Amino acid sequence: MWKDSSGIIQVGQSYRDRHKVPAPPVLMTLDTNTLPVRMHESQRRQEEWEARYRGGLTAWDRGAVSPALEHWLASGDLTPCRILAPACGHGHEVLVLARRGFSVTAVDISPSALKALDWALSEGGLSAEVLEADLLQWTPAQPFDAIYEQTALCALVPDTWVDYAARLHTWLKPGGRLYALFMQTGQPDGPPFHCDLDEMRRLFPDTDWIWPKTAPLEVPHPTGL
Ligand SMILES: C[S@@+](CC[C@H](N)C(=O)[O-])C[C@H]1O[C@@H](n2cnc3c(N)ncnc32)[C@H](O)[C@@H]1O
Repeated sequence: MWKDSSGIIQVGQSYRDRHKVPAPPVLMTLDTNTLPVRMHESQRRQEEWEARYRGGLTAWDRGAVSPALEHWLASGDLTPCRILAPACGHGHEVLVLARRGFSVTAVDISPSALKALDWALSEGGLSAEVLEADLLQWTPAQPFDAIYEQTALCALVPDTWVDYAARLHTWLKPGGRLYALFMQTGQPDGPPFHCDLDEMRRLFPDTDWIWPKTAPLEVPHPTGL
């Protein structure tokens, strides 16, 4: 049985300050050498995930909201705010958050997953911002109060994790919170890729993130891909 270890990590010192990241330039110059490569990679990522949804190969999908989200809502750790759900998939959690009065932005690379989420939102008379985008290329207009990161990292190839972790930091306001479910598969390959907790500690270092003092919550996960 696979499991997700979940916890809340809070944004510490500003990533921009710490890493002396300059403010984004007003004018953008396109790097014509690497842009086609990046577009090609993004297109490949989309085709792979879309094929999984179209083929019904979505074994990660519980078909219901994760017990971790229910726990954070019931405990009062997570209260209505502007929240991002990256790699939301069918978005069972997006529906619950929208119903609970959160202002939700849901992002995924798979058009089929988002179509299903859009349908479920309208069936439920709910609203959320639903965006088709590659998280490794996307930038939000405004940072969020919180991010609900449910098994998104494990879906990305480990080569991209440092980039993705830095993105998560910049997508949050100072003091914002990352509600994370890191999947542990114990397998060498992926996706989903095994998110060893010691490795997560290094990826989200204490210099940039404030980790909770409590032990992570463990949520059994039905299966993988
Ligand atoms: C393991 S699934 C998790 C889905 C959902 N969070 C859940 O728990 O049911 C990973 C999700 O990441 C999405 N995904 C993978 N790579 C992505 C990327 N680069 N940008 C955006 N979404 C991506 C896939 O389409 C898929 O919906």
